[in-house]
Amino acid sequence: MNKNLKLTFLADTHHYSQTLGITGKAYELRSGSDQKCLAETGAIIDAAFEKIAKSDTDAVLIAGDLSNDGELVCHKEFREKLYELQKSKPVYVIYATHDWCCDGNPRRFDGDKVSNDVETVSHENLRDFYRDFGPDRAFDEFTTHLGTTSYAVNLNEHVILLGLNDDQNGRGGSGFSEEHFKWIEKTVADAKAQGKLVISMQHHLLIAHIHKLITGGGTSVQDNEIVANRMADAGIRYSFVGHSHMLDTAKITSPAGNTLTEVNIGSLCGYPAPIVNVTVNDDDTLTVDVDYLDSFTYNNQPVDAQQYLKEHLYAMVDRILEGAAYGDKQTFIERFDAMQLKGEKLVKFRIPIKLVAKFLLNGKAKTACRIVNLITLGKAVDKKAVKSLGNKKIVDFIHEVLLSVFDGARYRHLPDSDYYKAVTGVIRTPSILVKDNKILKQINEIIHILVAGTELNVYPTVI
Ligand SMILES: [Fe+2]
Ligand SMILES: [Fe+2]
Repeated sequence: MNKNLKLTFLADTHHYSQTLGITGKAYELRSGSDQKCLAETGAIIDAAFEKIAKSDTDAVLIAGDLSNDGELVCHKEFREKLYELQKSKPVYVIYATHDWCCDGNPRRFDGDKVSNDVETVSHENLRDFYRDFGPDRAFDEFTTHLGTTSYAVNLNEHVILLGLNDDQNGRGGSGFSEEHFKWIEKTVADAKAQGKLVISMQHHLLIAHIHKLITGGGTSVQDNEIVANRMADAGIRYSFVGHSHMLDTAKITSPAGNTLTEVNIGSLCGYPAPIVNVTVNDDDTLTVDVDYLDSFTYNNQPVDAQQYLKEHLYAMVDRILEGAAYGDKQTFIERFDAMQLKGEKLVKFRIPIKLVAKFLLNGKAKTACRIVNLITLGKAVDKKAVKSLGNKKIVDFIHEVLLSVFDGARYRHLPDSDYYKAVTGVIRTPSILVKDNKILKQINEIIHILVAGTELNVYPTVI
């Protein structure tokens, strides 16, 4: 039996219509506070779709947050792109909370002004809006209390896709109602009885990727460990999700001994613009490989996508640091507010924040290492590591760790490297001074993962 099915997964395209404004102070503040792009999304999606259309993949699957924030104009433009792609490849999508503007705050930008008079698509209408990209080819469908649907579709005679809508579980969180869960369990049991493999796609995370301190809250489904175990015990071995905008592969094994591996796809329109290619092997394993979008055309100019998206991500942090270090009071408040960091409250601490921001922007690693070694009597950072990396600026390390958050620590620095010793040494200083603090311990665990990476994130990987 030759399954040899090739699938391409994308997530969080967040298509933004340029008709909502792409210039002016209000737009700049919004765009500068986001890891992913806004004005450039159309160009990035076009480049990715063109590349995929020419590839040998058998189907394209998109894991939700298709539009910027549920605006009708964004959905219409995005759907046109899907129709174009579907001339070459079958496309399956699920939609998610950003596709019906669940916070009720749609926006357009004009000069200094933000306006909310933007028409959105309601959750009841999304199923029909995207019916040509999954639901109409499904052999079974489950309708939630929101009027959204989950569906089951045969990708070929051996493999079934479960496209799940997990926006609300009816108990105030994302996930599934009991009735919804029963439908999933029955669908998977029927597929297994026929010897078929089920691949599941939903928007919110079943597994807290990187660390539960980062993605364990609202980023994952409510009670994510219970839900993930139940999905694993139902017989789902592979889950593809979006939402966190972070590329990461992780797995759990339920107490009953069933393993579920989850690929968190990452946003196409932010660094590292992952295009996740999956081959279904004959033994029901999957080979997962990642193609990073290399270029797109913007304003008739070729753009190096990786460089552009990296700089967009760096700028998100730099704008805050520069606003704090050199901006006036108004700039300080605006830039922190744009990141939802409560500028009005933080401005009371403007002087110490200014000093820290200046140090982070201009200071060298050796100064930071010497300070922490002075405080910890030399316990924090290995002296050889200080010597080999000391002339690098602190802000460069901040940028690199930030890249790791979104690319699954693609550039690994293992524990015996000077880089690992310097970065983790500085970060773990508070835990040397304050023993047995749970949060500090978790921060150490996070920085270890972000610097050293994990085997599952070395692509191609077989899961
Ligand atoms: Fe998203
Ligand atoms: Fe989301």
